[in-house]
Amino acid sequence: MKFFIDTANLDQIREANALGILDGVTTNPSLMAKEGIRGEANVLQHYVDICNIVSGDVSAEVLSVDYDGMIAEGVRLAALHPQIVVKVPCTRDGIRAIKWFTDNKIKTNCTLVFTVGQALLAAKAGATYVSPFVGRLDDISSDGIALVAAIVEVFDYYGYDTQVLAASIRTTQHIIQCIEAGADVATCPLSSILGLLNHPLTDKGVEIFVRDAAKME
Ligand code: G3P
Repeated sequence: MKFFIDTANLDQIREANALGILDGVTTNPSLMAKEGIRGEANVLQHYVDICNIVSGDVSAEVLSVDYDGMIAEGVRLAALHPQIVVKVPCTRDGIRAIKWFTDNKIKTNCTLVFTVGQALLAAKAGATYVSPFVGRLDDISSDGIALVAAIVEVFDYYGYDTQVLAASIRTTQHIIQCIEAGADVATCPLSSILGLLNHPLTDKGVEIFVRDAAKME
């Protein structure tokens, strides 16, 4: 399973990349705004800066909600860097835009996916990734991980190449559950990725080995 980091914070992207296990980055308008990135030139430069840190796919989301706007924006984003994946919401115009990007060899990430039906439409339009939002479904007492598992099963059954990118990951446990559900990618906050390392027996074992190593000197 691939690990993407879900942030626009360059320091966190560098820190995750330094671990040597980072496969890509996802951003969205909320994450970009959180970093104080304003104005088209700065936004575009920020995406280039991210691409220069990591070697994998970098999702850059269109701000337009209409088909023509999505196409114009997506073309500009894709021209920035070969690692850019155009992130498009799972709406009527979004699905049409994804089909256009597919026909024009531009990679896409269909975002804000909350049902198997939405995921299937995105796959039929040729999306490179679909992003089911795990945490936001859990927020409304639904089951985000069950959606990830259902999409994985349907894509396997019909043989779609579209990768299931579990998004809105909030906890380390979400990552474990995505692994078990067969997600192709999980995009996670840095804290959740680092949380995978936590185990008291590992810490205790290292302590014992360090103590015993001293006896070998
Ligand atoms: O990748 C989408 C993600 O950033 C949304 O996360 O926590 O705002 O639901 P959240």
